Amino acid sequence: MTEPGRRPSVVDSIQTTDAFIRGAGRVFLVTLYTALRSLKLYPLENSQVQKSLDDLTAAVHVLLDREKEIELRVTGEFIFVNATRLRLDLDNYASFSHVLGILKAVGVGSIRAVEGADRREWTTLLSVLLAVSARDASVNRYFELTTKLQDANVTHVSVEPPIESDLNEEEEERAKEQAKRTYQRSVAVTKEVINSVRMGRTASVKKVKRAVQAIVDQVLSSESSLVGLTTLRDYDDYTFTHSVNVCIFAVALGRKLGLTKLQLYDLGMAALFHDVGKSRVPLEVLNKDGSLDEEEWRIMTAHPWLGVLTLFGMRGYGEVPYRSMIGAYEHHMKGDRTGYPKSIRPRDISIFSKVIAVADGFDAATSRRTYQTTPIQPDAVLKEMLENPKRGYDQILVKAFINLIGVYPVGTLVILDTYELAIVTGANPNPEFVHRPMARVISDSAGTVVYPGHVVDLSAQDGEGNFQRSIIKVSNPEKYGIRVSDYFV
Ligand SMILES: [Fe+2]
Ligand SMILES: [Fe+2]
Repeated sequence: MTEPGRRPSVVDSIQTTDAFIRGAGRVFLVTLYTALRSLKLYPLENSQVQKSLDDLTAAVHVLLDREKEIELRVTGEFIFVNATRLRLDLDNYASFSHVLGILKAVGVGSIRAVEGADRREWTTLLSVLLAVSARDASVNRYFELTTKLQDANVTHVSVEPPIESDLNEEEEERAKEQAKRTYQRSVAVTKEVINSVRMGRTASVKKVKRAVQAIVDQVLSSESSLVGLTTLRDYDDYTFTHSVNVCIFAVALGRKLGLTKLQLYDLGMAALFHDVGKSRVPLEVLNKDGSLDEEEWRIMTAHPWLGVLTLFGMRGYGEVPYRSMIGAYEHHMKGDRTGYPKSIRPRDISIFSKVIAVADGFDAATSRRTYQTTPIQPDAVLKEMLENPKRGYDQILVKAFINLIGVYPVGTLVILDTYELAIVTGANPNPEFVHRPMARVISDSAGTVVYPGHVVDLSAQDGEGNFQRSIIKVSNPEKYGIRVSDYFV
């Protein structure tokens, strides 16, 4: 918006152009989608088809009048109109994914139109696109499309293949965005369920199920992007972020163990609900500063079986959620049954519960809570979990977990021999270098913070075969006033 009396600056005009394209581009995309759909369902003479083509032509005119040229480009899961990214929301999601699907199927990266593009050319393009997208994969669909457009003398509307170099960066960006959405939605859903239980209302499990499926799908397609988000621990939202983190770690670990997708859904549900019994523990006890007295401890350690009771009362499950009940019941029992609740008869702890216990132990020990002001460093936690048998974790699972998140887990602050500070962003893609992860350098050697910093490969060597950077030690981010999660959003 321009204030009165001020001349519009370049920035203003860019902003208004952006806003214009976002608006007009959205209309263009929706009319394109509607025309494609109607053409697929009805013959060309049908009045609905005719109207949709009118609408499309009108939308094209609005854009061409001002921009002289239109470029609709798809990269990863994004759609750009004249280099402006269209925002994805629920209203236009269907049109987005439908158009994306057709363009991807034919191998089209962008559609371009210049002045003179008329209704006939658009009709031809859309009809041919539809016909070609339905051909089987043995045909070179892109080649067939361009040949047919040429034959039909379509010259003002054209197509181009995807730009290869864009792909990786965009894909990565897309995975990150997607991971963030999945994470935030899962936390919100968990909050909703736990708060309903706390207030004595029945909670719907359907939403949780969907959130867990999204987590599993995400972990299967791009594991590191979601695992990185487990560093986003909100102090106030500990109960909810903890449940989501345990779910993410458990699913990622389950995947390493070779569980099927359906088993991962089950495991994810059980993990997300492992502490659901805590919603029946009074908040004064749950958030108490300092140690618990005997009565408080009794209530706190009741959360496993309170969880079982809570799960009994949940609707929308269809069947009894017995795996989740077992997870809720067993996750503090420990391998040698010295934990709680005490088992009277000998008992084999289920593999799901053992996985959840590892994920739970790691997340709880590395996060900051009311009664634990400084989190313990991730590498120290892993060492303790592996080496102290009293902790009662399954050794093989802890080893698999270390394999998964690395000796220096994502989010660890490390000091390098260059005196730079860096935050670990992921394991080294080369498994030979488990001690040399990928890390984001966030301060220079003089200690000046750089934001957002740049990612380096700690296995990189100079011309003489010496490592350019090595980890000297792990440190506590709070000591430097660093919030690790700032570097993951
Ligand atoms: Fe627990
Ligand atoms: Fe827990």
